[in-house]
Amino acid sequence: MNFSSKITDWYKLNKRDLPWRNNPEPYKIWLSEIILQQTRVAQGLPYYEKFFAAYPNVKSFANAQISDILLLWQGLGYYSRGRNMHFAANQVMTEFKGIFPNNFKDLKKLKGVGEYTAAAIASIACNESVAVVDGNVYRVLARYFNEAIPIDSTEGKKIFSELANELVPKINPGDHNQGMMELGALICTPKKPDCINCPINSSCQSAFSASVELLPVKSKKVKVKERKFNYFHLKFEDKIIIHKRHGKDIWEGLHQFPLVEGESQEIQNELKKLTGLNQEFGLTKGITLKHILTHQRIFADFFTVDLTTLKGLKSEFIVTTLEDLENFALPKLMVNYIESINKN
Ligand code: ADE
Repeated sequence: MNFSSKITDWYKLNKRDLPWRNNPEPYKIWLSEIILQQTRVAQGLPYYEKFFAAYPNVKSFANAQISDILLLWQGLGYYSRGRNMHFAANQVMTEFKGIFPNNFKDLKKLKGVGEYTAAAIASIACNESVAVVDGNVYRVLARYFNEAIPIDSTEGKKIFSELANELVPKINPGDHNQGMMELGALICTPKKPDCINCPINSSCQSAFSASVELLPVKSKKVKVKERKFNYFHLKFEDKIIIHKRHGKDIWEGLHQFPLVEGESQEIQNELKKLTGLNQEFGLTKGITLKHILTHQRIFADFFTVDLTTLKGLKSEFIVTTLEDLENFALPKLMVNYIESINKN
């Protein structure tokens, strides 16, 4: 049996029963694959179900309010995915007359759809023979061929993409690609791979060996930036104050307490300037939360402040209540803070 038949046979017997795998259509595969980027299936599955229930087709997704999409996306991270999907759904409605593109070349025209996602949709939903190369597939290939070239180098990407495309069959390319990803997720795992139960162990160049866990190789270390956030939980009677984040930074479009960033000695004055509130603040330092993202480590101090008036408050700030925050999309860091004060 050749490589692809072993992968496909194994996949048919061992695949997880996931909702987008029944009757795969481009819209469903697009939704699931974007949700699953940088996200494990167990974490992404409830989001897929919520989104598919709210927006069962591309038209309803395009017509949604972006604030509703971000609210459903809450907790999943990488929020630009949700914004790009909204843009892409509108592209489908205008540039493709409401019919989701059904080939690799057109799929790549959609915002947020790169090589990986276009190949996944084209192969799984449209039977186009193109290889999907995600983190799971890099791992399976690097180990199978005992190939130590770094997967994040230009040359490495080219070599692995060529290998993957040589292996993908003309018939059922979608099952082959999903089998490769599923094998990486269930058997050929980063740590302690289950070589005994692997369908390709007899020809794998690193199976059962000490090198298996050392592959794949990455050359670059992720650079992590440290940021200090000072958040102000401003209280006026039963009201609190939030605003929407703008600009090309993390959490664009999500809501948060007024924020002063950095190790400032002058946070009283900075808070006045930021909010327009002109009064002496009695700041009480509350908890500090650490929040880790792929490229950033955030240390957030939360201060509580009892306001005497809202006079001067700039119009971009929203006066609401803690209870009403569930109607706003919030970064996980804000949700963690609210949970901690509700516990105490
Ligand atoms: N992770 C991301 N996409 C996947 C897929 N289609 N099958 C298995 N794991 C995945």
